[in-house]
Amino acid sequence: MRALVKAKPEPGIWMEERPIPEIGPEDVLVKVHKTGICGTDIHIYKWDDWAQKTVPVPLVTGHEYSGEIVAVGEDVKNLSIGQRVSGEGHVVGMTSRASRAGKFHLDPETRGIGVNLPGAFAEFVRIPAFNIIRLPDTIDDELGAILDPLGNAVHTALAFDIVGEDVLVTGAGPIGLMGAAVARHVGARHVVITDMNPDRLQLAAEVADVVPVNIAKENLREVMDRLGMKEGFDVGLEMSGAPAALDQMIDHMVMGGRIALLGVPARPFIFDLGKIVFRMITLRGIYGREMFETWHKMLAMLESGLDVRKVITRRMSADNYAEAFRLAAAGEKGKIVLEW
Ligand SMILES: NC(=O)c1ccc[n+]([C@@H]2O[C@H](COP(=O)([O-])OP(=O)(O)OC[C@H]3O[C@@H](n4cnc5c(N)ncnc54)[C@H](O)[C@@H]3O)[C@@H](O)[C@H]2O)c1
Ligand SMILES: [Zn+2]
Repeated sequence: MRALVKAKPEPGIWMEERPIPEIGPEDVLVKVHKTGICGTDIHIYKWDDWAQKTVPVPLVTGHEYSGEIVAVGEDVKNLSIGQRVSGEGHVVGMTSRASRAGKFHLDPETRGIGVNLPGAFAEFVRIPAFNIIRLPDTIDDELGAILDPLGNAVHTALAFDIVGEDVLVTGAGPIGLMGAAVARHVGARHVVITDMNPDRLQLAAEVADVVPVNIAKENLREVMDRLGMKEGFDVGLEMSGAPAALDQMIDHMVMGGRIALLGVPARPFIFDLGKIVFRMITLRGIYGREMFETWHKMLAMLESGLDVRKVITRRMSADNYAEAFRLAAAGEKGKIVLEW
């Protein structure tokens, strides 16, 4: 089969011929239809410090996918050949305290498909049956391929009650855009999204009814005045990983505000913990998706009017991967989906 492989410990990614994965008794084999290129894939492509420490070489990469089951392991029940699927990319163990309590997303043995385990940028991928999510007919293959990052957005946006609240989203990358759309869908009052990239801010306003703010040009306090907000944002969704964004967020929260942190900073940084203490702000880290509550809510919201399709700004053939990765690394405004 064709597969996009991190074949050498240096920048780049290579299309290679690989054997079709063999499956174990509790796995299924998925014929991949579409895949999304993620920021994580770009870290691996660029071979930065994180990638060098994390990714074994050689490895088939990719973790955002949709496809169809073409083989099932002998112990797999309730799944069958021909079903359209996507799946949770975090593979967990079953022996930790968290897993035995049913909190699979807190399992310390979590490994990532396409990061630690063979991935989905290939014609076929092996997935534990436990991780498989069946796709309803209403969710087509290209939406199916972006459920993993949409799940990050849903997990973050639903970390705190945002009904009727004013929400600040920092970072208008694909996940920030979708987080803002989820906040709008579930009934926030004002949803303000910041970035300094005008193309991304414009896309944010096309994806959902949100207020885009270019922090390089506009003053956030003036935007709040314009919206009639007096004290500050009730809930923050940090989706940039930028230290400056967190500083700005903390300075514009209400007393007792709640912040969910998804963005991953490139390196440790200093921030004013005193402000968190005196303003009684809650900070909560978010990793991956809740298994499988996030998936349930995400599919339910997509079936009840949440529309994030405009986040996909480019569709390309997997054979055109070199150009796709070049565009993604250069800061494509939305999501690139590859067809296999
Ligand atoms: N915790 C997890 O499980 C998890 C999973 C996936 C991604 N992530 C992280 O979530 C973040 C969002 O993912 P993405 O793919 O949308 O990322 P992205 O890199 O495409 O988007 C980040 C955006 O933040 C903007 N930005 C930079 N500085 C800013 C500032 N000071 N204020 C406002 N915006 C600023 C950038 O211009 C960019 O548009 C990334 O940091 C990513 O690494 C975390
Ligand atoms: Zn991803």
